[in-house]
Amino acid sequence: MNLAVLGAQWGDEGKGKIVDLLTPHFEIVARYQGGHNAGHTVYVNGRKFVLHLIPSGILHDGVMCVIGNGLVIDLRALFTEVDDLARMGIDVDGRLAVSEKAHLILPYHRELDVLSEARRGERKIGTTSRGIGPAYEDKIARRGIRAGDLADPQALEHGVRENVNARNRLVQETTMDWRAVLDQLLTDGERLKPWIRDVSLMLSEAMRQGQTILFEGAQGTLLDIDHGTYPYVTSSNASIGGVCTGLGVGPRMIGAVLGVAKAYTTRVGEGPLPTELTGEMGKRLRDSGNEYGAVTGRPRRCGWYDAVAIRYSVRINGLDALALTKLDVLDGLERIDICTAYRVGGQTLTELPSDVSRLSQCEPLYESMPGWSSPTKGLRRFADLPDAARRYVARLEDVSGIPAAIISTGSDRTETILRHDVLADCRLPDFQDA
Ligand code: IMP
Repeated sequence: MNLAVLGAQWGDEGKGKIVDLLTPHFEIVARYQGGHNAGHTVYVNGRKFVLHLIPSGILHDGVMCVIGNGLVIDLRALFTEVDDLARMGIDVDGRLAVSEKAHLILPYHRELDVLSEARRGERKIGTTSRGIGPAYEDKIARRGIRAGDLADPQALEHGVRENVNARNRLVQETTMDWRAVLDQLLTDGERLKPWIRDVSLMLSEAMRQGQTILFEGAQGTLLDIDHGTYPYVTSSNASIGGVCTGLGVGPRMIGAVLGVAKAYTTRVGEGPLPTELTGEMGKRLRDSGNEYGAVTGRPRRCGWYDAVAIRYSVRINGLDALALTKLDVLDGLERIDICTAYRVGGQTLTELPSDVSRLSQCEPLYESMPGWSSPTKGLRRFADLPDAARRYVARLEDVSGIPAAIISTGSDRTETILRHDVLADCRLPDFQDA
């Protein structure tokens, strides 16, 4: 059975670890959207790997890793990642496939990202400055350059010239030389060539041969361009629809959907975060959870678990179950709050408002639960959790409307509780303990 693993909050939920943990059960791991704005941190035997573009499945021998058409690729970032992996003894050759239809991030996209943020002033999005938005803009405007175009120097020259000239009309302080951009792309094209594939066809053939696929999401549902807190979102479909459009697979090929959520909430960048804690408790969560962006190093905004946002994610994605991460970060807290509804304009809301300005005015309505003093860090069996931690998880399941099939109690693969009974109930594969 194929499985989609995606973020149920505002990104940084710990998808990298969960994907890494489940990868041995699949032959293929396929990314479907985003770019090197993502930072998937995985710890294996004390070694830290941060992957931005290449699926974290690459850390497992024999697993094929796919970069779908739904991504935007900065080739400099891709090659750096390939080189870094090589230095760690991991060879991607024969194990990496890049869709010929994936769009490229070119040097002017990065500078346009920074410029556009500066122009927005106080209304800035707080992007990762990686050129993600401008590259998707070019894609939608039908002037983007795709990975497959590198094999057609004439068409490439035309596209690069047009696009760089458009950039030069926009940014008059400096002039970019389209020939230099073209030369670099032609060189890069040679290196990329062995990995280029018709990804949709490749996946379809693999499935016909009985292979299974793990679809790996980046960012999170609340950052989705359509279903997130627009305009404070990324520029791709991080939610489930992205799997079909970003890889060229049919919806019935997605066997089950696992949403990854922290046992609390974080967000990096601007935009509403109803349960945000700006005082001491926010700092406490940030420090114990090491909540600093894997890409930009920015401190993440932290708050209590927001069940309204999670229920929304359950609905948008049709989630079968949750993988609940970072439970151990809550160790030692006297009380833990859970947001079950919002209060706005004298009304109680149990559903996420679609209007971002209304969402910004929402006050969280909390339930308070007792915390636990004995550590959960590293525990591997649900029964071993302190009573209060088990009650907290059970309450999160109640208010979220789906079970927590996996609970992460630390950053290492082995620091995980796989609830085999719950996995079976949600029709998920019976994953083996790490
Ligand atoms: P962009 O994707 O760089 O355009 O940034 C748009 C918004 O998405 C900003 O608020 C970023 O902080 C956020 N964002 C992008 N990628 C990630 C991620 O991987 N984790 C968390 N937030 C992200």
